[in-house]
Amino acid sequence: MNAVAIVPAAGSGVRMQQNCKKPYIVLAGQPILCYTLSALDLAASIRSIIVAVSPGDEELCREQVLRRLKLRAGVCIVAGGERRQDSVRNALGALTGDCDVVLIHDGARPFVTSEILDRTARAALVCGAATAAVAVKDTIMRMAPGVQACPEPLAREELHAIQTPQAFRPDILAAAHEHARDGGVQATDDASLVINMGLPVALVAGAYENIKVTTPADLVHAEALLKTLG
Ligand code: C5P
Repeated sequence: MNAVAIVPAAGSGVRMQQNCKKPYIVLAGQPILCYTLSALDLAASIRSIIVAVSPGDEELCREQVLRRLKLRAGVCIVAGGERRQDSVRNALGALTGDCDVVLIHDGARPFVTSEILDRTARAALVCGAATAAVAVKDTIMRMAPGVQACPEPLAREELHAIQTPQAFRPDILAAAHEHARDGGVQATDDASLVINMGLPVALVAGAYENIKVTTPADLVHAEALLKTLG
């Protein structure tokens, strides 16, 4: 398998309430993005990685992240965009050569394993599109913004928390982004763009440890996970 990984890491990180941007926050001596890229590098399916960083942070990423790592996979850095989907689209523009699968993994998910990455890539080869997911643990209710009461309870057994990695046949991913751009579709992940186009997405087993480091509480959780996972 010949997969190219795209790593959106160009978020502003406002929910983290820190001066340092999220990919460069240091956990046990290394920026978060170092853990993410090292995990991707261990996946047998991945031959190269395209990282989307905030415009102007390209040198920061080279200095603080890439220089610390000895990666087998080739890495290229591109400027991200305003929304996550813009960052992924910019990275898609840097794809060169043939690949079987494009795998997308959030820079803010440092605890992904090579098993999850390879499993998701293999599922995309078979189904065209696949995403890691875990069963929802909380009861979830839907309520429109601005409404004060009467949330609608949703059947928990039907709900899945969608993670990354997500993997796609390159033609399907390119078509989904084109369809989204033409139709003004916005989504917080790429599997939603494929579903919006009417195509199926396979769910594969993710992991509860595969957290997205988003808030200060997640940093505490991440420190604890680093101690237990080693
Ligand atoms: O904002 P969200 O939590 O959905 O971010 C998920 C991932 O997308 C993060 O790794 C973040 O850095 C990235 N992102 C991006 N470009 C943006 C916004 C988010 O690459 N404009």
